[in-house]
Amino acid sequence: MSEAAGVDQAGSPTATAAAVASSRVGPAGCFISIEGIDGAGKTSHVDALAERWRGRGHEVVRTREPGGTPLAEVLREQLLSREMDALSEALIVFAARRDHLVQVIEPALARGAVVLCDRFTDATFAYQGAGRGFDLTVLAQLETWVQAGRQPDLTFWFDLPPEVAAERRAAARDPDRFEQQAVDFFARVRAGYRLRAEAEPSRFVRIDAALSRDAVAAQLTAALQLRGW
Ligand SMILES: Nc1ncnc2c1ncn2[C@@H]1O[C@H](COP(=O)(O)OP(=O)(O)OP(=O)(O)O)[C@@H](O)[C@H]1O
Ligand SMILES: [Mg+2]
Repeated sequence: MSEAAGVDQAGSPTATAAAVASSRVGPAGCFISIEGIDGAGKTSHVDALAERWRGRGHEVVRTREPGGTPLAEVLREQLLSREMDALSEALIVFAARRDHLVQVIEPALARGAVVLCDRFTDATFAYQGAGRGFDLTVLAQLETWVQAGRQPDLTFWFDLPPEVAAERRAAARDPDRFEQQAVDFFARVRAGYRLRAEAEPSRFVRIDAALSRDAVAAQLTAALQLRGW
């Protein structure tokens, strides 16, 4: 495993790196995650966000979870296609996250890039925790162990009723293992996101994703303008 900036000899992100990240005020070196249930419209808006900062001369690293590295993408494929117990699922998600942090996210933040990540740890709490009922305290332990303080600086939560998301997905593609779940599974996942958002209101921005694409884009722009980003 290569040693990335902000990661110590034992392989843990250093407290210093986390402290520096939390003190940043502009988009340079910022970590932004985009969350929400399947079909909420996340991917539809990532390009525009990336262009916003590329146009101002920032390096933008656009990535996703699970995935974002060759190893993590293989783990993603297995996760989406194979049945497994909830602990296996959680361990695979966090193994992929660890590789992603060490290989991509930490080095990019250290270079001053803007990192735009389509899903991060809030999704694990929402899907494996609230959705599948897996023990949240175990997830919290894994979060501490794998991330050692690293969290997004800003999280856009695309929130909408599961029924609306299901209609959008049905119109767009064949379902994967998670997307085959019933509406009540996505209702639990949505509630899981709400819990995370309520626990960290300064990190989360709730986006009303049931609105039109233009209205969603306007909410994103307004939230960024508020931060001077
Ligand atoms: N505001 C919107 N109104 C109507 N349809 C939308 C809106 N935003 C996105 N869509 C459509 O809904 C579908 C799902 O959007 P998208 O793939 O961006 O969602 P996602 O949140 O990235 O989903 P996933 O989590 O499965 O990757 C696409 O067909 C997209 O064109
Ligand atoms: Mg997507």
